[in-house]
Amino acid sequence: MTTNTLFNQNIIFHGADYNPEQWLDYPDILEKDIQMMKECNCTVMSVGIFSWSVLEKQEGDFDFSFLENVINKLYENGIKVFLATPSGARPQWLAQKYPEVLRVDRNRVRQLFGKRHNHCPSSTIYRQKVAIINEQLAKRFAHHPGVLAWHISNEYGGECHCPLCQEKFREFLKDKYKSIDNLNKAYWSTFWSHSYNDFEQIQSPSDIGESDVHALNLDWKRFTTKNVIDFFEHEKSVVKKFNPNLKVTTNFMEFFYDYDYFEFAKSLDFISWDSYPKWHFYKDEKYTASYTAMNHDLMRSYKMQPFVLMESTPSSTNWRELSVLKKPKMHRLSSIQALAHGADSIQYFQWRKSRGSSEKLHGAVVDHVGHIQTRVGQDVKNLGLDLLKYGPIAGSYTNSKVALVFDTQNRWAIDDCQGPRNMGFDYLKMTHSIYQALWSLGINVDVIDQSCILDKYKIVFAPVNYMLRDNWANKVESFVKQGGFYVSSYFSGYVDENDLCYLGGFPGPLKDVLGIWEEEIDSLPDDEYNLVQFSSKDFNYTKEYKARELCSLIHTTTAKSLAYFKCDFYKNYCAVSVNEYGKGRAYHISSYMEDDFYYDFISTLLDELKIHNILGIKSNDALHIQTRENEQSIFVFVQNFNNYPKDIMLNDKYLSLDTNNTIEGGITLEPYEVLVLKKDK
Ligand code: GLA
Ligand code: ZN
Repeated sequence: MTTNTLFNQNIIFHGADYNPEQWLDYPDILEKDIQMMKECNCTVMSVGIFSWSVLEKQEGDFDFSFLENVINKLYENGIKVFLATPSGARPQWLAQKYPEVLRVDRNRVRQLFGKRHNHCPSSTIYRQKVAIINEQLAKRFAHHPGVLAWHISNEYGGECHCPLCQEKFREFLKDKYKSIDNLNKAYWSTFWSHSYNDFEQIQSPSDIGESDVHALNLDWKRFTTKNVIDFFEHEKSVVKKFNPNLKVTTNFMEFFYDYDYFEFAKSLDFISWDSYPKWHFYKDEKYTASYTAMNHDLMRSYKMQPFVLMESTPSSTNWRELSVLKKPKMHRLSSIQALAHGADSIQYFQWRKSRGSSEKLHGAVVDHVGHIQTRVGQDVKNLGLDLLKYGPIAGSYTNSKVALVFDTQNRWAIDDCQGPRNMGFDYLKMTHSIYQALWSLGINVDVIDQSCILDKYKIVFAPVNYMLRDNWANKVESFVKQGGFYVSSYFSGYVDENDLCYLGGFPGPLKDVLGIWEEEIDSLPDDEYNLVQFSSKDFNYTKEYKARELCSLIHTTTAKSLAYFKCDFYKNYCAVSVNEYGKGRAYHISSYMEDDFYYDFISTLLDELKIHNILGIKSNDALHIQTRENEQSIFVFVQNFNNYPKDIMLNDKYLSLDTNNTIEGGITLEPYEVLVLKKDK
């Protein structure tokens, strides 16, 4: 694989959301801002995201002079822009004249004008108005040398239940099922006598109406994904007409629930996302750092290419329960963490703090004081100088032998399944526990879903894979036959794509490859646990590990048992199994285990597969090692998220990109210190 730069660049971009339309009464601010941006080595700004009411004050009354001036001035000073289409927040006049553009909620209440991201994606009028403003923008700027790419809309989210959306939903279902009979069968709709006579009777799910037909709920989520993609494609087609080569993105969000981003990603030329980790919320950073790393990995894995960190706060947010400041060094560490996992641009929300309204206390590069002689300003400036040294990293790829499945459609299905654990069944938490062990071990991981190809991996973890889709069982069988290791868990292989339970025993079509069948699953109150102990000599651990929340009671058919439960009536039942299958192995873990279990178990599997990080370092704290590479070099990011110093031993000579000196031997990383190293191939 060669380098895959997003914009043929040899720099890591640095910048922010910039909203100068808020400062039109302060004419000297643009010059001052540009001066400070240059001091911070800013190379890109996202502009126009919320500019609609300035660009089109009244219907058809356009004035692009302010935006033209901003883009020109930035460009003259070496700063490019991600130019936004303004559909994320429509002007008052539009909602007033065309109320159909406003959303209708699940309870069929049309929303008033207000907030943002509050439009109906099906409204023909909204689509027309968006097309007009996008066209005006594209006509002027699609060939402007200062425009790096399109930032389409902003954080698409939510759903609309208006009559137009309902109609489109019914069309979607007709297309999918062809006949109402097929739909009734897929929906198991004789249950509670909910059978449909024709498609016209179908309503989107509602708390005051239909909400218990699981397959309907799933189809609605799939439809809303399709509908938002359709809206995005509409916006995209308008701007692409003027310059097909100018790339498009939209900013994604953290483990986003509303849409299936693996589907959405196909429409984007590159991925960008907004990351707001909860730094310093807990006693240490291990959880937050690994959770954030998993998000970055997911973003990279959508297209298996570098991504843009479109937003992050240089200081604190203002919308969490606490606005915790980034402690010294955290700004550099968290920004380089994104770079390590595949970012080719580091950007903030926002450049200059708003004076009024709901984000006036949100962290920004330039605070109300108006200059960057501040702790935050200097952190940003210093990072800008650091990024200058990291140009060779741009476009490098991530070589992962390990994949972890986190499947949004499975997540929807689990949250809707009613039993076995309605008091908090957290698929993300359970998946993250596995990720965290891999992260501590310093392993590169791709985070994929069931639509992905498995060939390039040596080991795939797919915990709590309740709903199987996209031919998953066949993919797993051939992956394992060819020598792959597959790690499954409790509550897997229960239902098909329509949320219909597999007949003939769980884990359904995974029974053969795993060599087990699950007869029952026990759900434990939060303060209870079972204990698990290894019996196999391959796992040389004498400890007992706590097993919580769910315990599946399995029978081994062709698999052999490696560990067993120690308590309750299922004492001695198999807790961990392995099945030799073709040239590979399929493991099953029967319960949600404590962190130490995942660390020990995964560490043993990786040893066997000879998967280690380049430095050969194993830690079980908040040190993480991540690599990117290109044809010539490997870049190594050694990140100490511990709030204490950490000694490590380098196994070779490395070039520090920060000092340009060769380093080797023993090194102490200070708390929150990060090393950016290079080794030639
Ligand atoms: C989101 C939005 C921004 C801003 C930030 C604040 O990411 O895209 O416009 O509201 O949140 O954290
Ligand atoms: Zn609608």
